[in-house]
Amino acid sequence: MALYSEKVMEHFTNPRNVGKIEDADGVGEVGNAKCGDIMKIYLKIENDIITDVKFNTFGCGSAIASSSMATELIKGKPLSQALELTNKAVAEALDGLPAHKMHCSVLAEEAIRSAIKNYYDKNGIAYDKTQFPEPHDEEEEHFSEED
Ligand code: FES
Repeated sequence: MALYSEKVMEHFTNPRNVGKIEDADGVGEVGNAKCGDIMKIYLKIENDIITDVKFNTFGCGSAIASSSMATELIKGKPLSQALELTNKAVAEALDGLPAHKMHCSVLAEEAIRSAIKNYYDKNGIAYDKTQFPEPHDEEEEHFSEED
């Protein structure tokens, strides 16, 4: 089997929703300390629905494909559903990622979460803090394997 699925390659070469939303309602930026990759997500939100989403990812192909897929999965969805999006769901929607690239999909989950938190904070909206754990860092289990 090829290392990367056709979907990963397709989203990497033709990523959806790339860019920036100038008047975004929520912006989230996360990075992975080990690989140095950075992902930024911009959300437009109306009545708790994500009406638009864009991303900028300075990172590897899997991170770009994960951002692209994740934005597709949350566009038009309620915030509650976007908050439930896991990195595993992103990886599954991409027909899988190699084990040592799973951490790239974690960035997408965390960037979305961080953008939603930013929206809540900016608007003084109360939220359940347990839904926003601190982003992963350092000793990611996925890094136990050599790249
Ligand atoms: Fe860093 Fe993929 S996000 S290697």
